[in-house]
Amino acid sequence: MTTEENKKTATHILSRDEQFVIRPWSGSGEPVPVVDAKGCNITDAHGKTFLDLTSGYFVNQAGHCHPKVIAATVEQLNKVVQVSGRHTTASVVDLAEKLVEISPDSVHKVFFATGGSEAVEFALKMVRQKTGKSDFASLENGFHGLTLGVLGACGSEKYRKTAGIDLPEQFTRLPSPYPYRCACDGDECTARCLDGVEEILAANPNIGAILAEPAQAAGGLIPSKAWWKRLDEIRKKLGLYLILDEIQTGIGRTGTWFAAEHYDLQPDIITVGKGVSGGVGSLAVVLASNELSCGFYAGTTPTNGGNAVSCAAGLALINVLEEEKLVENARAMGEYFTSAVRKLKDSWIGDVRFFGLLGGVELVSDIENKSPLAKGIVGAIKDHLYQAGMLITVSGPHGNVLRLQPPLSVTAEELDRFIVCLKAALSEIRAAQ
Ligand SMILES: Cc1ncc(COP(=O)(O)O)c(C=O)c1O
Repeated sequence: MTTEENKKTATHILSRDEQFVIRPWSGSGEPVPVVDAKGCNITDAHGKTFLDLTSGYFVNQAGHCHPKVIAATVEQLNKVVQVSGRHTTASVVDLAEKLVEISPDSVHKVFFATGGSEAVEFALKMVRQKTGKSDFASLENGFHGLTLGVLGACGSEKYRKTAGIDLPEQFTRLPSPYPYRCACDGDECTARCLDGVEEILAANPNIGAILAEPAQAAGGLIPSKAWWKRLDEIRKKLGLYLILDEIQTGIGRTGTWFAAEHYDLQPDIITVGKGVSGGVGSLAVVLASNELSCGFYAGTTPTNGGNAVSCAAGLALINVLEEEKLVENARAMGEYFTSAVRKLKDSWIGDVRFFGLLGGVELVSDIENKSPLAKGIVGAIKDHLYQAGMLITVSGPHGNVLRLQPPLSVTAEELDRFIVCLKAALSEIRAAQ
């Protein structure tokens, strides 16, 4: 197509999007009208190609449109698309069995939902049915979805206020670990920030479980092993269940199938979403222990939970991750990227923290006192990267973490391209201040 025709197509998509689509949110340069997506690249209607370091919002674990995932999807589409929750299909059972096989030993069965927030809600429901307790503990900077049943568990007021009303006080918030800004840093971590947590939890007998991400994706924080060890000991002492929200950290993202493995955690429930079907249909699951799943009654829906096509895609995706050693690649590329960004020795780069391919680059205006770089400047850097064809997001409690979660298939060459653009963005935006 000519440039003129591309422009017409882009305008046609964007003007109708504005007229007919309710967007959850959008920032500068967004929405990008995507017309093609392969591997780590997406192409917009203008014909511009971007390196998608967000994996289509953290779902395309093996890259966009992986041929084997697509083939499995098409094959399943010709057999069975969807059956009632009263019935079953081979792809559903195959995926359930595989998920149990790759997950920690503490979880034994799979409940199928249609989205991450919904899966977390069902996890809460399971604990409530078992314990009869209404409340949960969650982390100050945690994120668990935006539907009304889980919104209260989110740490950020920015999200909670989208409810439009005051939410019921059913979530007791615990301090989030923040090794970069914490007095007890890195390997030396004594998890002192958890002092007093046992008392907080013990003071509320209505708490049935702790709900937490093993590492915070939207929150941009990665706890130390000592922090998780201590919290896990506290909750076991108090007889609380542990729900690990692995909607972003699961399915190989952190260099192991589940981040629980890094911390030697044996959760009672793991929620998984996003990458679980590589973006085919909408799939999320609750992996639960025999104890919690025994006697659980969900009601009659979710209608499309365990959609046969999404499950076939999910199974193909896990097979691809295994065959192409992409979980190992996630680990190696996370390490490669961390070291390459640190080598930039840029005066605005305060911390580079990656857990496999989940993490970010925390920007500060002063390395010594760690003052967060102003949000406006961070936004200008993100825009500069966008112009250079790099798609990322921004996260962290101070909105100063450049967040990258590329497909697990990303290569060193692709990451090098990003680093060249990052270097230019930092120096050009600094020069403009
Ligand atoms: C950790 C975590 N939990 C839950 C959710 C909600 O998932 P969904 O957007 O599919 O409802 C998200 C989404 O970003 C998430 O990151």
